[in-house]
Amino acid sequence: MTGKNSTGGLLRRVAERGRAAVGLEVDGVAVEALEGDTLLTALLTNGGRLRESEFGDGARAGFCLMGACQDCWVWTADGERLRACSTPVAAGMRIVTRGAPWPATR
Ligand code: FES
Repeated sequence: MTGKNSTGGLLRRVAERGRAAVGLEVDGVAVEALEGDTLLTALLTNGGRLRESEFGDGARAGFCLMGACQDCWVWTADGERLRACSTPVAAGMRIVTRGAPWPATR
């Protein structure tokens, strides 16, 4: 048992299904969210993880869900870094969660 729902998502909607659909792209794959969703909600209702850990210890799914822990960084295809838990989805977003460009450390 993986804990994923029938669409492969870690989260499953149980309410508020009447909002307008918003299309975006995640790692080159078209996915659908609902108007007003955060990126974190969009990613976890469509997949089993938010991103890969930069420390090589597996998948991440966010932690605090309120913009404080920085566990939910994802990137736009243009390289802008976003906190998925506090960024609303927008139609046409192109999000990258794998092989993202972390800033170099010294
Ligand atoms: S989940 Fe903690 S900052 Fe986004």
